[in-house]
Amino acid sequence: MAMSVNVSSSSSSSSGIINSGFSRSGASSEPKVSRIGSLRLLDRVHVAPVSLNLSEKRSSSVKPLNAEPKTKDSMIPLAATIVAEIAEEVEVVEIEDFEELAKKLENASPLEIMDKALEKYGNDIAIAFSGAEDVALIEYAHLTGRPFRVFSLDTGRLNPETYRFFDAVEKHYGIRIEYMFPDSVEVQGLVRSKGLFSFYEDGHQECCRVRKVRPLRRALKGLKAWITGQRKDQSPGTRSEIPVVQVDPVFEGLDGGVGSLVKWNPVANVEGNDVWNFLRTMDVPVNTLHAAGYISIGCEPCTKAVLPGQHEREGRWWWEDAKAKECGLHKGNVKEDTADANVNGESKTAVADIFKSDNLVTLSRQGIENLMKLENRKEPWIVVLYAPWCPFCQAMEASYDELADKLAGSGIKVAKFRADGDQKDFSKQELQLGSFPTILVFPKNSSRPIKYPSEKRDVDSLTSFLNLVR
Ligand code: ADX
Ligand code: SF4
Repeated sequence: MAMSVNVSSSSSSSSGIINSGFSRSGASSEPKVSRIGSLRLLDRVHVAPVSLNLSEKRSSSVKPLNAEPKTKDSMIPLAATIVAEIAEEVEVVEIEDFEELAKKLENASPLEIMDKALEKYGNDIAIAFSGAEDVALIEYAHLTGRPFRVFSLDTGRLNPETYRFFDAVEKHYGIRIEYMFPDSVEVQGLVRSKGLFSFYEDGHQECCRVRKVRPLRRALKGLKAWITGQRKDQSPGTRSEIPVVQVDPVFEGLDGGVGSLVKWNPVANVEGNDVWNFLRTMDVPVNTLHAAGYISIGCEPCTKAVLPGQHEREGRWWWEDAKAKECGLHKGNVKEDTADANVNGESKTAVADIFKSDNLVTLSRQGIENLMKLENRKEPWIVVLYAPWCPFCQAMEASYDELADKLAGSGIKVAKFRADGDQKDFSKQELQLGSFPTILVFPKNSSRPIKYPSEKRDVDSLTSFLNLVR
């Protein structure tokens, strides 16, 4: 069961849906919610539901997509700064079964699903817009009449037509798209060392990680849920089973840890043709590349037009394996056995390494064996047992690198040990490897490593654990 825990106000907002003529069959059923506790807070500000399109009306106090959760206050909506009245509010901890919710919504229309998603998450959800036919998501959000946010990953390598299209969409809906850009130092490092088109030689994964996945991770850290335009018919190899809503299997949200982010796929069950009929009927602006034979659209060097009868995915990373083309945004679609054998068209051994901070120690088999033998270490060590192709390891890369940088010179050593392939049996027997990633702390004065028990792999959680056991 895919459960997600969230803390919410007991007040609920009313549907802002307008009469659009769409069927709402099955929409009345509410998701199963178990109340496992309730807490009465007497001195908190009561926040009335706000109807404010954050993409339409931007203000300096709107929480940016990559905002880090500092305190609970950072989750109080905008209106809390205006409403001064002190009222009573009951806070309820909800555990929601998203597999159950997905089943309930399986036959719902995209409009119903979008409405449910926006209703539940308000300002903490955003649409991921690629600049292709997933503009349908924006149209659906617009039709609900609710406020909504839109973000896009500007990789710096998009087609000129896509940039023009972004502009047209902003004007058409009166919104501002929240663009996420890659880290300039990382792009510089990649391009200076490997050139502008390294992906044609050693696969798209490294470039996608720098230009798309890390910016996406930053964006999602400021949200509790996101909305994508993934459809089952887009990729028989990887998307045939995507549900309309799921706990995100790879990325973390605002509250951190596994289960802190929910992923909505309102058009999962819609076929490409029906999306196009919808766009035409609603007279929505579309990317002019479609008229030139493009169907699925990504970055300029990695996307091409397809011929009649060709599958749309054939126009993406065409020099790589056809069955597992996921750039990292939706890596959870790649099943474990596929991931194990072949990720993004690359064999496991060919996948680029991860955890690249200069402050990280790379342990060999000999190195980690020596570490285990030391009874009295001079300093404590934290070691991640990882596999570079594992999406969960990739998801914690940024925070682990950050931890290594933060602890540089502190006397605590941060290290990695690649524990797949030939090292897997040894790691299972000697190092408590269960699944990837496994994190161990080797305390200063003890021979036995202690396994980190949590799936929260952010810097603060890892630091607290280190402080407790070192
Ligand atoms: S990809 O993983 O192969 O690049 P695809 O192009 O099929 O993804 O798009 C699927 C969904 O992923 C889109 O509908 C959108 O929600 C999200 N997405 C893809 N590319 C971007 C992008 N550049 N910015 C924001 N979201 C994106
Ligand atoms: Fe780089 Fe191509 Fe991935 Fe764009 S799609 S980020 S250009 S590898």
